[in-house]
Amino acid sequence: MASRKFFVGGNWKMNGDRESIGSLVQVLNNGEFNPTETEVVVAPPMLYVGLVQQSLRPEIAVSVQTCHAAAKGAFTGEISPQMALDVGAQWAIIGHSERRNVFGESDALIAQKVKFALESGLKVMFCIGELLEQREAGLTSEVVIRQMEEVRNAISLAAWQNVVVAYEPVWAIGTGKTATPEQAQEVHHQLREWMAAQLSAELASVTRIIYGGSVNANNCRDLAKQEDIDGFLVGGASLKPDFITIINAQS
Ligand code: G3P
Repeated sequence: MASRKFFVGGNWKMNGDRESIGSLVQVLNNGEFNPTETEVVVAPPMLYVGLVQQSLRPEIAVSVQTCHAAAKGAFTGEISPQMALDVGAQWAIIGHSERRNVFGESDALIAQKVKFALESGLKVMFCIGELLEQREAGLTSEVVIRQMEEVRNAISLAAWQNVVVAYEPVWAIGTGKTATPEQAQEVHHQLREWMAAQLSAELASVTRIIYGGSVNANNCRDLAKQEDIDGFLVGGASLKPDFITIINAQS
């Protein structure tokens, strides 16, 4: 089996304040994990990214939860990859289902955001996933492959080395209805096969494909045992001390 470093991201979404975020940083700074075995990245709400980056242990990287496809300009409310880098973020989550389904970001816009973030020097957690009605209609593969094709058409092969693919079935996000290990593995394997056919065998082998959607301390180990699940993108559980258990899901 290819050696892909286990990857655990924490997406804090729009949660927290200086006090609770300070406590969460303390939990992370005191948490035991092996940074040579697991890559850990946390994504605070935008206003706290710099504060977290300054107080967080260096073994854990910081991410923004989105960024625009431009370096500056008349984009009220947005931030640029350059600003993320300026405050010490190394990653960006792009294409999260909430950006797609709540804020109306199209596949095309997301592909441009991925392209510009990578060109600007950020690494990207690229999120894909199907809606419940799409899964029930048997369209899961079609949907996630279409989302991958938009980015394939926008970025170079070399750029994929700084991409982690996050499969997040929308029906599992925040619902407590986690995909079974078999359901997640089936899609992850399809994605890896697509990468081998459409990108390269090498990229298919080395690219981390992580799962997101109601991951918690109780289900993370069974999910992590699946061959093509290389880690997680965690929402609710990343705001709790249980996140350390999820970081250690493989050990
Ligand atoms: O980005 C990860 C997030 O969407 C998953 O949320 O709360 O289901 O772990 P949650």
